[in-house]
Amino acid sequence: MSTERRLRPPGLAYGGDYNPEQWPEEVWAQDMALMREAGVTMVSVGIFSWALLEPSEGVYDFSRMDKILDLLHENGIAADLATPTAAPPAWFFHAHPEALPVDSDGRRLSYGSRQTFCPSSPAYRTAALRIAGALAERYADHPAVVMWHVHNEYGCHNSACYCDTSAAAFRKWLKAKYDNDLDALNEAWGTAFWSQWYHDWEEILPPRATGADPNPTHRLDWRRFCSDELLSLFTAERDVIRRAAPGTPATTNFMVMHNFDALDYWRWAPELDVVSNDHYLRSTDPESEIDVALCGDLVRSLAGGPWLLMEHSTGAVNWQPVNRAKNPGEMRRNALAHVAHGADGIAYFQWRAAKAGAEQWHSAMLPHAGTDSQIWQDVVQLGADLRALAEVRGSTSPAQVAIVWDWNARWAMEQPCQPSAELRFQDLVRHWYAPLWEAGVAVDFIHPDTPDLDRYRLVLAPSLYLVDDAGTANLTAFVERGGTLAVGFHSGAVDENCHIRLGGYPGAFRELLGVHCDELFPLLPGVQVALTGQVPQDATADLWTERLRLTGAEAVARYADGPLADVPAITRHAYGNGTAWYIATHPDPTTLAALLERIRRQAGVRPEREVPPGIEVVKRRGTDADYLFLIDHAGRGAEIPADGVELLTGKPVVGSVTVPEGSVAVVREPLPGPSAE
Ligand code: GLA
Repeated sequence: MSTERRLRPPGLAYGGDYNPEQWPEEVWAQDMALMREAGVTMVSVGIFSWALLEPSEGVYDFSRMDKILDLLHENGIAADLATPTAAPPAWFFHAHPEALPVDSDGRRLSYGSRQTFCPSSPAYRTAALRIAGALAERYADHPAVVMWHVHNEYGCHNSACYCDTSAAAFRKWLKAKYDNDLDALNEAWGTAFWSQWYHDWEEILPPRATGADPNPTHRLDWRRFCSDELLSLFTAERDVIRRAAPGTPATTNFMVMHNFDALDYWRWAPELDVVSNDHYLRSTDPESEIDVALCGDLVRSLAGGPWLLMEHSTGAVNWQPVNRAKNPGEMRRNALAHVAHGADGIAYFQWRAAKAGAEQWHSAMLPHAGTDSQIWQDVVQLGADLRALAEVRGSTSPAQVAIVWDWNARWAMEQPCQPSAELRFQDLVRHWYAPLWEAGVAVDFIHPDTPDLDRYRLVLAPSLYLVDDAGTANLTAFVERGGTLAVGFHSGAVDENCHIRLGGYPGAFRELLGVHCDELFPLLPGVQVALTGQVPQDATADLWTERLRLTGAEAVARYADGPLADVPAITRHAYGNGTAWYIATHPDPTTLAALLERIRRQAGVRPEREVPPGIEVVKRRGTDADYLFLIDHAGRGAEIPADGVELLTGKPVVGSVTVPEGSVAVVREPLPGPSAE
């Protein structure tokens, strides 16, 4: 992130998407009054306003936006001004029907919703840069505008287009990647298989629907291309804005949340001045607070520090089969958990609940019922909370444990025709993250190539299926120098081209882990095996097993039954000055928790504070104080050792703080130092 282009409102930002164009002007004055009542400090405007801002090509109507920005400024509310390029108007597609995207079956989609354009379309790029440039020039110096919100959720609905224009762009990307060497591409893709050899670049297509199974490297390069193609749209808009408004930061809202996996955000994050994220709960997730924490830690790691929560919901969304409302106190717990995990601002989709349109059943800060509602009371309360936490802004979150996260590994592992279709990267990472979260152990996420791993005592790599030689060397050197690494099953299996690392699994990590596997034994759904050894009684595993042989490691646990009875399942290997563990199966949660506790204790990692089950504990570190966040997800309340000041109530804390049932406490604890003496 750039250091010079930062968001500068004081305290923690608070607000949401504001779409006043959906309402008559007389409603706007009421919006302003209510925003002030709730303590709103910043709203995102204009996200889907293209058709009104540019009613026909090159003809602009800024009258409404002028009024909105002036009104916000008069009311002391900052604007995060969007480029409206996620929703091209109907007139654009009438003039450029070729800019509509084509799916992998060859079906051209129609306009009539949003984000239905081909990312490689030259006409779209021209039109997007034109409206972005016109807005930037007009509003570069508007006093309300503190940030630019480029587009909206890149790739949410159109992460890939399979049309001929996209095919040509894909070939261009491939020529650059393979240095114009078609033989190198053929080698990387393994095209000697099934007569797929390409003799001419023009023969290469996107991975469109085909009769049998696709080529894995073709698909992997396609996913990399699709992420890069959208990134180039972002940087092009950002640069147009920078020319007009060089000092104002630009962001775009990421979607680091459960099932969205279209973009390699490690490549995106350095291009943003401010990293922001959207996060929604899954109604069917019984422990969605763990998802909030995991995604918050991942975004904070991408940002390398504080970030903004650009969207989440006050209550139900409208796009799941059944849309669950939030439980009492859940909205506040969610928002403050995002702050605990590094958010310096909290925003919602959206300010006022729509009465028409596809999202009319989506919750908002101001619900259909108006101010006579629980949600409104909670919104006003949260505004007060965020004011009370203003000093938390800019503080960081020190962690001694890092989890390896790589979109390439995720894409590769979730391809078709793998040993098991049951493996989901994010679920496997969460399986390891959950016990650390429950124990109150802070976690960062890292890329396999992240330098300076020595700041961590423990690195975890749950199922890092794909890893290149540089990532392998980086993780191996960390252990050699004295670090502790725990590797999950089916790791190191393939290189960056999805080529299997020969000579036995887990290919890249065989020597480091001191093990050799000659055959994988994935388990059918519902099948369990028992584990024995240094594991809790009744320990079991499911999903995955491997026939492992020790080549230097010691067995910590073995399978007690099934075809692999007596084969090592969990191993430990002294390597260089460090230790490398291999968890070659998918232990039940209790067993994994016990194992990770043992591993982290041996690595010298302690929780932030001992807390009872159901209490989330997270620390942010400021320049002269720690901020201890305590969130009660179990509804039982707790008394936790602490000293300082509880910021939400302003009360002094001596010896311990009370976390009320289902609620949150945030304690400022002074750091020892000259000022505290
Ligand atoms: C996404 C979009 C918003 C809205 C919400 C609804 O996050 O960015 O415009 O559609 O989903 O949950």
